[in-house]
Amino acid sequence: MLARKARLPDARRIHELIAEYAREEILLPRSLAEICENIRDFAVVESGGEVVGCGALHFYGDDLAEIRSIAVARDLQRQGAGRRLVEALLAEARHHRVGRVCLFTRIPEYFARLGFVPVSHESLPQKIWKDCLRCPRFYRCDETAMVVGGAPARAAAGRAARPFLHSFPG
Ligand SMILES: CC(C)(COP(=O)(O)OP(=O)(O)OC[C@H]1O[C@@H](n2cnc3c(N)ncnc32)[C@H](O)[C@@H]1OP(=O)(O)O)[C@@H](O)C(=O)NCCC(=O)NCCS
Repeated sequence: MLARKARLPDARRIHELIAEYAREEILLPRSLAEICENIRDFAVVESGGEVVGCGALHFYGDDLAEIRSIAVARDLQRQGAGRRLVEALLAEARHHRVGRVCLFTRIPEYFARLGFVPVSHESLPQKIWKDCLRCPRFYRCDETAMVVGGAPARAAAGRAARPFLHSFPG
């Protein structure tokens, strides 16, 4: 499996992958137009020449990014595609010298294995202003906010400082 930056012709496949999980309210829905507009945010994983997974890195200002829309085709899960996507997006964040990368998830145990630690939602007001205020589950949110890199993540983890720029490969 190979992770690479998405290209515009990948947009329809990315839309399909996200839509499948959006129907189950696992991911936020993304329209095809929105995906095309933000295609440069996306990375994909290919297997046998087919796109089998996608994910996006969205920048909030110059020191915080969010990993979002991570999806791997059901029949190709648990083969490392998700990990490759997250590592590629983190490498991109590092390339851009972003200090912290956050995400919101219902499977914190998965992302903990990739170095993310839980933080309070309030520590990420940028996300609240962008998405949460429009979310039907705003008052009954069941997602864990997580961060890799930066002081809030280290404080939440209650462990020694680990510089973000050295905390993942790529
Ligand atoms: C979550 C997801 C991206 C993981 O991708 P993947 O390619 O299957 O995962 P990887 O192969 O990188 O990692 C596999 C490991 O993660 C664990 N894992 C996979 N999905 C998991 C889940 N939902 N909850 C907890 N652990 C999970 C597996 O047990 C496996 O562990 P092992 O190596 O000890 O067997 C994929 O299952 C998916 O697309 N899920 C639906 C969409 C979604 O939930 N996206 C994340 C929203 S924040």
